[in-house]
Amino acid sequence: MEYIVYEQKGEYAIVTISREKALNALNSAVLEELDKVLDEVDLETVRCLIVTGAGQKSFVAGADIGEMSNLSKAEGEAFGKKGNDVFRRLEKFPIPVIAAVNGFALGGGCELSMSCDIRICSENAVFGQPEVGLGITPGFGGTQRLARLVGAGMAKQMIYTARNIKAEEAYRIGLVNGVYPQEELLPAAEKMAAGIAKNAPIAVRNCKRAINEGLDVDMDEALIIEEKLFGNCFETEDQKYGMAFFLDKNKEKVKAPFQNK
Ligand code: CAA
Repeated sequence: MEYIVYEQKGEYAIVTISREKALNALNSAVLEELDKVLDEVDLETVRCLIVTGAGQKSFVAGADIGEMSNLSKAEGEAFGKKGNDVFRRLEKFPIPVIAAVNGFALGGGCELSMSCDIRICSENAVFGQPEVGLGITPGFGGTQRLARLVGAGMAKQMIYTARNIKAEEAYRIGLVNGVYPQEELLPAAEKMAAGIAKNAPIAVRNCKRAINEGLDVDMDEALIIEEKLFGNCFETEDQKYGMAFFLDKNKEKVKAPFQNK
């Protein structure tokens, strides 16, 4: 692949968007490669993904403005669908995805981070939806996910004003879960990924589904989704082992890794 670097490190993997000369902006080729790299994730062994950008300046500076500049109405809609499809795939990807936002996360970059389960960022990160300043709406899910993450009022203010916000403000409004010095960002994401990977993988996946699917329906339906996924865990070997380990009073024992079964 030309624009995506994929590295598996034991039980987690790192997807790096690498188009540094354009601050990792998303053109069609990058979006297609992002889709393709998800096919390559070995879900038998990889239990958490990290998405980040190459370099120390930018996570993703948005959709590619050059590519969008001459689109027709139909082409604009198709380009929006291309981004939405891959971001939705990431959002619904069976394992947790952490965005390690290492700099600019503007437009499609902010939208990419919001399609991940968890966002942490570097101190130099900048978030924003600057689209109305370019004569367009956010087009890769920004009007929907930002409002769900930070509330409609704050999302509308950010989107209508096209004002960028710095890391500390993103933290204050709940857009990111933590802010780190640049050199500590990836290690922090890797530590989090390794921590997630230690837990029972089927239970973690079921949690992701329960939270995501539950947010799209009313509470009664949401609790039924949870009950079914909770029940599903009792068919797994990891539940049998995890509970038997807890109940075993032999204090010398060492917990074995979960088997993903
Ligand atoms: N698309 C295409 N190229 C981009 C880009 C983008 N979104 N962002 C940056 N680049 C390119 C620049 O054109 C420049 O290329 P050249 O060296 O060939 O001139 C290179 O990356 C470096 O950028 P700058 O020289 O501008 O760097 P800077 O440090 O002065 O500024 C910046 C950084 C503030 C992020 C600025 O580049 C910028 O404002 N970028 C655009 C941000 C933006 O508006 N993003 C939203 C795009 S619309 C969108 O994403 C729609 C959607 O929802 C799907």
